[in-house]
Amino acid sequence: MKILVAEHAGFCFGVERAVGIVEDTANKKSNVITLGPIIHNPQLVNKLKEKGVLPLENIDEVKDVHTVIIRSHGITKDNYELLKNKGVEIIDATCPFVIKAHNSAMKLSKEGYSVIVFGDKNHPEVKGIVSYVEGEYFLVSNSEEAKNLPFRKKYGLVAQTTQNSQSFEEVVSVVQDKCDELKVINTICNATTHRQEAAKEVAKQVDMMIVIGGKNSGNTRRLFEICSELCKNTVHIETKDELSEKMFENIEKVGITAGASTPDYLIKDVINYLEEVKNERERKENR
Ligand code: F3S
Repeated sequence: MKILVAEHAGFCFGVERAVGIVEDTANKKSNVITLGPIIHNPQLVNKLKEKGVLPLENIDEVKDVHTVIIRSHGITKDNYELLKNKGVEIIDATCPFVIKAHNSAMKLSKEGYSVIVFGDKNHPEVKGIVSYVEGEYFLVSNSEEAKNLPFRKKYGLVAQTTQNSQSFEEVVSVVQDKCDELKVINTICNATTHRQEAAKEVAKQVDMMIVIGGKNSGNTRRLFEICSELCKNTVHIETKDELSEKMFENIEKVGITAGASTPDYLIKDVINYLEEVKNERERKENR
């Protein structure tokens, strides 16, 4: 059995940076909290809890003794103000590419464009982006929804950083017919595009594809969708414990990729497990 690991699998620059900031802060301070889990990976969030870093879901629970770390996909403008007014120490781990999306949305609205944000409506990053719009905005999660947009003189379009580039292009082509002037600021980050392209490259060559990452991670779920189109036998797992030897019967080539919020050690666990399956199979064949 051949094991192929896609390039760019796992932590992106922004997540690595945010997790590093949390670990550093936890080593120096007590009462450290994150607003929501620092990343969409339950295993890593549990490890950080053991170090005393608690994810609080509700901003009302934040007390002045807390050091608050803002996670890589950022928070809304209002919540930022609320934290400042509470007088807590704020450590901002928002990814610079997400800040670019905030600034782009704000700039477009200031220039008089009706802003369209392409993304998952309920994702905290998207809530953050729209909070910087200073006028009218619309949220669309696919080109079908874009078809229902009203006609406007000037539309400005931005995207959630982890969206699929091809779907973004589809939205662009629909919106072109919905206005006299369209200004597109492509805020999809390269890490996402590179990861998706590398995953496709592997998925089309293998009999089985394994996508590792939190079930609550939007970018991991998108990787799963993309790989499923090219390899019907694609599975989405969080840890190696969801795999069994039986799943690899008749599999000659297996591919691996992982979402932006999947720690390296979870990827290595899966690779090691597959190596064991492979070695066991070879032992049986040589008997
Ligand atoms: Fe930042 Fe891109 Fe990662 S926006 S958090 S580097 S996926």
